[in-house]
Amino acid sequence: MSNYFIYKITYTLHKLGFYYYSVKYYIKDNYNKTSNPIINIFGFIRIIIIALFHELKIFSSKSRFYEYTEIPITTVCTLKCKACSNLIPCYKNPKDVDLNMLLKSIDVFLECINNIVYMRVLGGEPFSSKNLFPVLQKLLQSSKIQRIEIVTNGTLIPKDDELIELLKNKRIIISISEYPQVDLSRLILFLKNNNINYRIDKINFWMDYGDTTKKNKSYNELKKQFRRCNHICKSLLNGQLHLCPRSSHGTDLGIITNNEDDYINLLDKTISIEEKKKLIIKLFKKKCILACDYCDFATSKSKKIPVAEQVEN
Ligand SMILES: C[S@@+](CC[C@H](N)C(=O)[O-])C[C@H]1O[C@@H](n2cnc3c(N)ncnc32)[C@H](O)[C@@H]1O
Ligand code: SF4
Ligand code: SF4
Repeated sequence: MSNYFIYKITYTLHKLGFYYYSVKYYIKDNYNKTSNPIINIFGFIRIIIIALFHELKIFSSKSRFYEYTEIPITTVCTLKCKACSNLIPCYKNPKDVDLNMLLKSIDVFLECINNIVYMRVLGGEPFSSKNLFPVLQKLLQSSKIQRIEIVTNGTLIPKDDELIELLKNKRIIISISEYPQVDLSRLILFLKNNNINYRIDKINFWMDYGDTTKKNKSYNELKKQFRRCNHICKSLLNGQLHLCPRSSHGTDLGIITNNEDDYINLLDKTISIEEKKKLIIKLFKKKCILACDYCDFATSKSKKIPVAEQVEN
């Protein structure tokens, strides 16, 4: 079987996983709210139909059903992983993302969509950031978001009482990346004691995205690479909705040439919400983005590498 088909099958399974979670969460959230089984079944069917329409691209401009978007809230991190997919060690002056901009862009994003399975809050290290509490508060206000994941490297334990209370919300799950150099025992004990949802992501290997130089690939090569990459990790940074973190952070760092066709500036007041909805659909239908020319992922150069190897100096 060719690599292309293997990628396609993996991507389809990935998507089915999102729909499975979507339906599961819908039932979990609504089952106890009503004793009327008809309403439950109706809700269940509704979400399947939306997913199907979205997948088949039927009326896709109306469905606006999303699997997953990442929100980096800081570029500060407690580790310096050489092959970080979000390019965090490249930041010379890491800092929290501007809170005002963050909250406004979340508002606009939520206006543009109907339903999203996961919003993933990350960084850098999200538990290092003062933005975490207000961002979670904002996300929890929206019923369009089914689950909120906080992705952490497990090095920090939350201390703030208000934040700890918020983390107990059952729509939140802490997704802990398991790295060889990090002892997770204290964090896990803390989460258990406070009855906070968590999951440990056992990671056997990372993928090498390569260095950040421009490779000058042909359009056909870029299209092929993009098709193979599942680019499921949409990334909302600096008010810009990008198709992947390499694109959002690479542009933020000035490593990747700013290409306005490759993201939507959600904070642009000259564009109406209706127009932004259409632009998002158009962005999601792109055949490739400039960032792929600065990335080896989904090419023959991308190899499996050890997890979270640190920059030496
Ligand atoms: C960029 S990190 C940010 C959150 C947090 N600092 C952490 O490490 O969990 C988000 C996720 O990307 C994964 N990741 C980072 N670089 C990767 C790579 N080169 N290949 C595969 N996964 C990677 C991490 O393991 C983590 O689960
Ligand atoms: S992958 Fe490593 S460097 Fe990147 S954000 Fe997570 S812990 Fe920090
Ligand atoms: S730059 Fe392209 S190939 Fe690399 S992760 Fe992003 S979408 Fe995939």
